[in-house]
Amino acid sequence: MWGVSSTPRSDKSGRTDISTFVLTGIGELTSHDPGHGPAPLRDAALVVESGRVAWTGPAASAPAADTAYDVGGRALVPGFVDSHSHLVFAGDRAEEFAARMTGTAYSAGGIRTTVAATRAATDEQLTANVARLVEEMRRQGTTTVEVKSGYGLSVRDEARSLAIARQFTEDTTFLGAHVVPEGATAEEYVDLVTGPMLEACAPHARWIDVFCERGAFDVDQTRAVLAAGAAAGLRGRLHANQLGPGPGVRLACELGLVAVDHCTYLDDADVAALADSGTIATLLPGVEFSTRQPYPDARRLLDAGVRVALATDCNPGSCYTSSMPLCVALAVREMGMSPAEALAASTLGGAAALGRDDVGHLRVGARADLVVLEAPSYLHLAYRPGVPLVREVFVGGR
Ligand code: NIG
Ligand code: FE
Repeated sequence: MWGVSSTPRSDKSGRTDISTFVLTGIGELTSHDPGHGPAPLRDAALVVESGRVAWTGPAASAPAADTAYDVGGRALVPGFVDSHSHLVFAGDRAEEFAARMTGTAYSAGGIRTTVAATRAATDEQLTANVARLVEEMRRQGTTTVEVKSGYGLSVRDEARSLAIARQFTEDTTFLGAHVVPEGATAEEYVDLVTGPMLEACAPHARWIDVFCERGAFDVDQTRAVLAAGAAAGLRGRLHANQLGPGPGVRLACELGLVAVDHCTYLDDADVAALADSGTIATLLPGVEFSTRQPYPDARRLLDAGVRVALATDCNPGSCYTSSMPLCVALAVREMGMSPAEALAASTLGGAAALGRDDVGHLRVGARADLVVLEAPSYLHLAYRPGVPLVREVFVGGR
């Protein structure tokens, strides 16, 4: 029965830091393995070998292993894949949040407040802040995270932001084109982003991103930045249609980008373009929670055949949550997703949005990134919002 027993991990020599073992007593296993059918497996076991999933199936047929860890009937899910975050910054904007809650509208201009604080911070301060937030994410079940730059907006500050982010993840994104900093014209700044800044940042980044929105960058500027990034070997992704309707989502689809993020204001042509292109719509419900905007209509997207991911967008301005479980709960309660769709979007969907097939699921061969929930079913992620249900997290089997 769920929650009755839990035996700590250990092997015959008493070591606890081991990477080959069998997890038994899994009350409910969500693996996203089509071989197990659409529903989670009950009474399951999972074998980890050298940090990878080696076997999953009914507990009764589990292969023997020297080391067993009984999870006591609890539910096990893949680690969350948070495919959109801005963790390299200094300071916070709690006063701006408080003003929003009493009627002030969110505006992209607030980004410049964080830029000033970030530029004034030391490398050590920025690194410590990223470490704190990554650890906070980990405690909430996130095992893969993408991290953007975008609060430096100078060659030095964007490059050091990405070098710091790289200490924590391979999925780093150059977002020099976040807003135009004070003292520059848009034209001058796009030249800088596509020239010396890109050159300094590309070695530390896998992706390039642009905030394609009124008040940030227009569609021609966005095209120019993505084209320069592609020439430097960076794959594109976009912030688009966050604050109002706009051309960003259709541009992402036209260019065949793997993902376009926010997608709050979409017309029928945007939805059709997403469905036709296969570009993933990454929805960030923490933003709408924290800005009091309308939530994106996930149901409309899913019914049209659009691939959907969920992510936090953790940043000090529009959304200062690091919690994927909160995003799952909001997506279910406010955006028309079923609990199963929301769990898939926050694991498999996030992985797809990062072009990764080694995480986000627990098929044989996947990295053993696992979350044991203090619950008998993943349904509790949405059913018990705000409750710390993440009991244990394994990354690469550790
Ligand atoms: O994803 N939209 C642009 N960038 C962030 C917000 C950044 C900020 O307000 O500091 C976002 O919402
Ligand atoms: Fe963002």
